[in-house]
Amino acid sequence: MTELSARTLRELFGLFATGVVVVTAVDTQGAPIGLTVNSLTSVSLDPPLLLWCLASTSQNRTAFTPAARFDIHILNDDQAQLAMHFARRAREKFETDAHWRSEPSPPRIHGALARISCRVQATHEAGDHVIIVGAIESAERGAGEPLVFHASKFGRFTAKVAAPDILPGSSDGWL
Ligand SMILES: Cc1cc2nc3c(=O)[nH]c(=O)nc-3n(C[C@H](O)[C@H](O)[C@H](O)COP(=O)(O)O)c2cc1C
Repeated sequence: MTELSARTLRELFGLFATGVVVVTAVDTQGAPIGLTVNSLTSVSLDPPLLLWCLASTSQNRTAFTPAARFDIHILNDDQAQLAMHFARRAREKFETDAHWRSEPSPPRIHGALARISCRVQATHEAGDHVIIVGAIESAERGAGEPLVFHASKFGRFTAKVAAPDILPGSSDGWL
């Protein structure tokens, strides 16, 4: 098998279109932190679990220890700028108060499609990333359409075919 370069892998993974979220938490000093993530995956309905993958080199690795709280904000299609803002490798990403509020912590981003509050249930080292499994404690929905990420571009979702009959659990309200 041909060895795949990091660039090729990045491009391959980029073919898999995803939504975009901003994960917020507080660091060990209690300061707000946030980063843009597209590795979010649903894991379990009962108990409610999700996962996402954090680069091991992240300056925020120590914020996601077992039982630490974090919030997932599923971004709206008008929040591409916000996604870029939280993808910067900067210490201070909360310098303006235009799009967030700190209480109750973790910081909350305004205008998201949904916010899901979690606690770190487990972490698993996996290559150059850490898989963070979150136990979902509460969730809140906003209005709008999702921001979509594909091949290094942000865009919008266009519905073509409804799939309610083939999804598991759809008869008891999955959709
Ligand atoms: C669309 C998009 C998706 C991203 N997904 C992830 C991800 O799943 N995991 C990750 O660790 N970084 C991801 N990043 C990169 C981080 O947002 C970026 O490296 C950020 O600077 C990390 O912040 P930190 O070093 O302050 O923790 C993504 C960036 C973008 C633009």
